[in-house]
Amino acid sequence: MDGADRMHFRRMDEGSDADFAVLAGVHAENVAALPDLLMGMLTDLKADAKYPVDRCEHSLQAATRAWRDGRDEEYVVCALLHDIGESLGPFNHGDIVAAVLRPFVSEANQWMVEKHGIFQGYYFFHHLGMNRDAREEFRGHQWFDRTARFCELYDGPAFDPKGEILAVEYFEPMVRRVFAAPRQTLYTAFTDDEAAREPRSRTG
Ligand SMILES: [Fe+2]
Ligand SMILES: [Fe+2]
Repeated sequence: MDGADRMHFRRMDEGSDADFAVLAGVHAENVAALPDLLMGMLTDLKADAKYPVDRCEHSLQAATRAWRDGRDEEYVVCALLHDIGESLGPFNHGDIVAAVLRPFVSEANQWMVEKHGIFQGYYFFHHLGMNRDAREEFRGHQWFDRTARFCELYDGPAFDPKGEILAVEYFEPMVRRVFAAPRQTLYTAFTDDEAAREPRSRTG
C-alpha cells in the first residue's frame, strides 16, 4: 500500500509534514480507542474467582461506593480503574494505571492511584509477614490523608458480595468524559485546549 494515508519514512528524521499529519491521525485514533481498551482491561479482571468478589466486581464496587459517597466523576473513574494494572504489573500495579491516568486527571488523583497499593497494605500486609505501616514513609505528604481515605472508604471495603455493584455500563460514559481530553501532556499539537479546560463535575 502506498499513498497519502500512510507514513513513508524509514527513519524519523526523514519524515515530512505530510507523514506527521498521518501520524497525528493515528494518534487521534489511539486516543479515541483508549476508553474501550481500559474498559476491556477492567472486565478482564473477572478472571480470578478466588476473591470474595472478582476483581472486576471489586473495582465496580469501589467506584460505586465513591459515587454513592458524592465523589466527582474523575475520582470515581480513578476508583473504577485503580486495579486494571494488576495483570501487567503484579509488583507495581498502581504505577501502571497511574501512568495511564496521568495526562487526564489531577496530580492528587494520580498520586492516590499510584500509591494506593502501599496504603491498602495497612489492612493486610501483617498477614503476610510484612509491615502494615509501610505507608508511613509518606506521612506528611499533602495527599497522604486523601489516599488513606480512598483505601479506608472505597478500596478496602469493596470485597462484599452483598454490597452494591453498579454495572460497567453505568460508569462507561464517565470514563469517556474523563478521557475525552488530556489535561497535562507535552503532545500539545494533539490536544483540544477548550475541552481540557472544562471543569470536572458530577454530570451522571
Ligand atoms: Fe490495588
Ligand atoms: Fe483494589
